[in-house]
Amino acid sequence: MAFPGAFLDELTVKTDMIALVSQYTQPVRRGSRWFARCPFHSEKTPSFTVTPESGLFYCFGCQAGGGPIQFIMRAENLEFSDAVRYLAGRLGLAVPEDSGDLGLRVKRERLIEVNRLAARWFYERLGSEEGRLCAEYMRSRGMKPDMARRFGLGYAPDRWDGLLTAMAAAGVSADEMSVAGLVSRNQRGGLYDAFRDRLVFPIFDLRGQVVAFSGRALGDGMPKYKNSAESPVYQKRGLLYGAHIARKSEQPYWILAEGNVDVFMLHQAGFDNAVATCGTALTDTQARLAARHVKELTIAYDADAAGQNATQKAVTVLEAAGVRVRILHMRGAKDPDDFIRAYGPEGFAKLINDSQNHIEYRLSLLEARYPANSDAEKMEYLREATRLLAELPTRGEREIYSARVADTLGIDSKAVSKDVEAAGRKRGKAAEKAFEAQVIRPETRDRVTARKAAEEQALALLLRLPELETSLTAEDFETEEHRLLFENRFSPLSGETAALCAGLLTRYEEMPNALNALADCEKRIKNPRAKYANY
Ligand code: GTP
Ligand code: MN
Repeated sequence: MAFPGAFLDELTVKTDMIALVSQYTQPVRRGSRWFARCPFHSEKTPSFTVTPESGLFYCFGCQAGGGPIQFIMRAENLEFSDAVRYLAGRLGLAVPEDSGDLGLRVKRERLIEVNRLAARWFYERLGSEEGRLCAEYMRSRGMKPDMARRFGLGYAPDRWDGLLTAMAAAGVSADEMSVAGLVSRNQRGGLYDAFRDRLVFPIFDLRGQVVAFSGRALGDGMPKYKNSAESPVYQKRGLLYGAHIARKSEQPYWILAEGNVDVFMLHQAGFDNAVATCGTALTDTQARLAARHVKELTIAYDADAAGQNATQKAVTVLEAAGVRVRILHMRGAKDPDDFIRAYGPEGFAKLINDSQNHIEYRLSLLEARYPANSDAEKMEYLREATRLLAELPTRGEREIYSARVADTLGIDSKAVSKDVEAAGRKRGKAAEKAFEAQVIRPETRDRVTARKAAEEQALALLLRLPELETSLTAEDFETEEHRLLFENRFSPLSGETAALCAGLLTRYEEMPNALNALADCEKRIKNPRAKYANY
């Protein structure tokens, strides 16, 4: 859905950002900017800023930022085009519907058609003699034919031009296959099938149309998964695998897994509300997609350290989108697929029943780390639990969980709440100071420091989330050591570079919205004199 740029500009210019924001929070003027408590995350001191002249908002706490359209997308959980309509309605402007973009729409429809044809061909291969080993592989993993049909699973044969030939015969051009990401190009410019000898999962959009594919090697082949590149109909950061079925589920919540096999097995076991991110960290867009369908979501990521890490990040993103989160504590299996095979659907249902809210989950991780046999361990547990509870926004919650911690330790709950309140006050003061340093007196920070901070923050983000794509190149970095670290960010580091990397990762905490944060850094690095240079 593309609107004319001039119309979007008009919409942005005509919208009074202060009036718009005031529907959700109370901005107060300080100099040329306005400050308010952020409507997108809970906080005590205001870190949400609006600059009315530019029509931009930015939150130093959760890194949300943008113009009126982005604001309404978040505030009302709307898609871009619906946010545009909302704002136009408010201003009484007529929306130019995108008749001018017929070309684009036809292309999208054609791409969907091409994907549908490919999915059907893969599906037929699976039923043919050629797909025998694949069917055998599926049987060995307990994937039933009924469910496989429901998910449209197929087999990409071990040939270089199987799909290519079949699609050409169906009138699909090489360009169309190329845009759909179904073929790759070799060095001499020749085309060949992108998916070969793989079990193929069609990826569906919300409407159930095939927009991409994910192919799993049969056995130990590398890479384990091969996924379609992004295309005009497929943006992986906006899609949840299985959502086209989960949205019709009667369950009031969704289960979020990591992989498509997990989603398949969960549905087969009767959990028709399972979805997955398919190998990338949960994005803001995916969280908002979930928020439009359910109020609550249960995270069932892999049980390993990576899965736990990803869980923490997903919690932040989901809570920012207004989704209540529960976390499944999986033991004795690596992922939901494994677990169901070992303990059956009943076992998994029990896990869901026992799933904990975010704070319970983190407390139980602490309890497991410090089984409280010795006094030293008890102290350590108390110290960390206190810090954790101090983050809770309401006094009521802090009291409830203080009582639980006290219970675990066998001490008086008043003592715990007192510690928690003290830690909370200390935290508030530190946050205020940081806020002052960042916001109130930004002009006192010199440009060199701001530039260096932008570089450091960008590096920290890229080191932590290597899958983020960036427009930055080594030349964009001013310091030699930053250049070096940027160039080697995918390699094992040693010596000074490793020390620098470790330093950055501790100094710059995790960003709930890494994509926005990175985009912001990129702007600050490439255009240090622009208005965001102060941030
Ligand atoms: P099984 O090992 O078959 O049970 O698959 P899984 O779904 O449990 O996979 P895993 O937990 O290893 O990975 C989760 C998701 O990450 C997968 O569904 C893929 O989307 C993605 N993924 C895993 N390995 C690769 C890979 O080698 N390449 C790419 N592009 N994605 C991968
Ligand atoms: Mn698995």
